[in-house]
Amino acid sequence: MSTAYITALMQADKKAIMLAAEHLKNDEVVAIPTETVYGLAANSLSDVAVKKIFAAKSRPADNPLISHISDMSMLKMLVDDVPADAVKLANLFWPGPLTLVLKRGGKVCNTACANMQTVAVRMPNHKVALDIIKAAGVPLAAPSANVSGRPSPTDANAVKADMDGKIPLVIDGGNCTVGVESTVLSLVGDEIVILRPGFITKEQIESAVNKEVSIAKSAENMPKEGEKVMSPGMKYKHYAPNTKIVLVGGSSKDYCNFVNKQTKGGQKVLALCFTDEKERLICPVVAYGKMGDDAEQARLIFAALREVDTHGADIAYAHCPNNYGVGSAVYNRMLRAASFEVLYV
Ligand code: TXA
Ligand code: MG
Repeated sequence: MSTAYITALMQADKKAIMLAAEHLKNDEVVAIPTETVYGLAANSLSDVAVKKIFAAKSRPADNPLISHISDMSMLKMLVDDVPADAVKLANLFWPGPLTLVLKRGGKVCNTACANMQTVAVRMPNHKVALDIIKAAGVPLAAPSANVSGRPSPTDANAVKADMDGKIPLVIDGGNCTVGVESTVLSLVGDEIVILRPGFITKEQIESAVNKEVSIAKSAENMPKEGEKVMSPGMKYKHYAPNTKIVLVGGSSKDYCNFVNKQTKGGQKVLALCFTDEKERLICPVVAYGKMGDDAEQARLIFAALREVDTHGADIAYAHCPNNYGVGSAVYNRMLRAASFEVLYV
């Protein structure tokens, strides 16, 4: 299959939107920009269409997809009863990087939900994405547009690296402004649980619903072999470049000293560091944002993880981000990229 690339920047290009909608109505897969990361979209009411997403990504069939809507009336196609907390959260954070896991209803297909009784929904905060969903007239199931296990794509070139020849169309909407995937929040149990940390923080959610919210164990620990997890995606290897990554915790001074010492050994070392640390390191570096600027780190982390492999290093030492606020989302991605290997210096 040959892949077409069309640019549609924020001043939504009508031709690109119509072409995307046409493919989607024909049960085809289209890569679309969102504010978080690029998504691989198909009609979430169609098993035939959604199966093509799983094939293009080589995604395990038991990992459900998020359905994307363009307005509240579309929620009816996915969910029968919307709990009061969901209404509050949707009013506050949609369109935006928050995904709600709700009891499944409507006509959402089995493949999109991986046969679970729940459905994940979000309304993206991106003009092009919203226009495409609206033109398609149905919710769009869309996982991140990477091959399973690879870093999520935050620009059209990264989509091309993973999807060229596998899907008919990529809509290029420029760089994603958030850079990490949405916060995934379960509203189906007795308590509200964050299944995946993202740009909308625990503190923001707690103040919106006026109750405590917990974070699923699988968000921060590698699930044990066979352990049941609330969010199937959390049990898979994720975001990993081919280069081995080790996460290093400690002050800037201790991190730089440690990496410089490793550089003097026999291995080809790379530093995945903060911008402010570049000058103090003697090995090649990839920077992923200023220290303490968690929004910038979120925006840059996936491109940085992809860049790591271009250096041909034996090992990359990543300086550990802060694990609170938006930093929790960055930390969660970095931890997985490092296969949960953390060193404290
Ligand atoms: O920002 C985002 O969320 C991006 C953009 C494209 O919208 N999408 C995205 O999709 O990150 P994906 O498929 O890469 O990650 C979805 C996560 C997975 O960890 C999956 O297991 C979880 O959401 N998920 C989906 N449906 C679920 C459900 N019914 N119950 C629990 N977890 C669910
Ligand atoms: Mg993903």
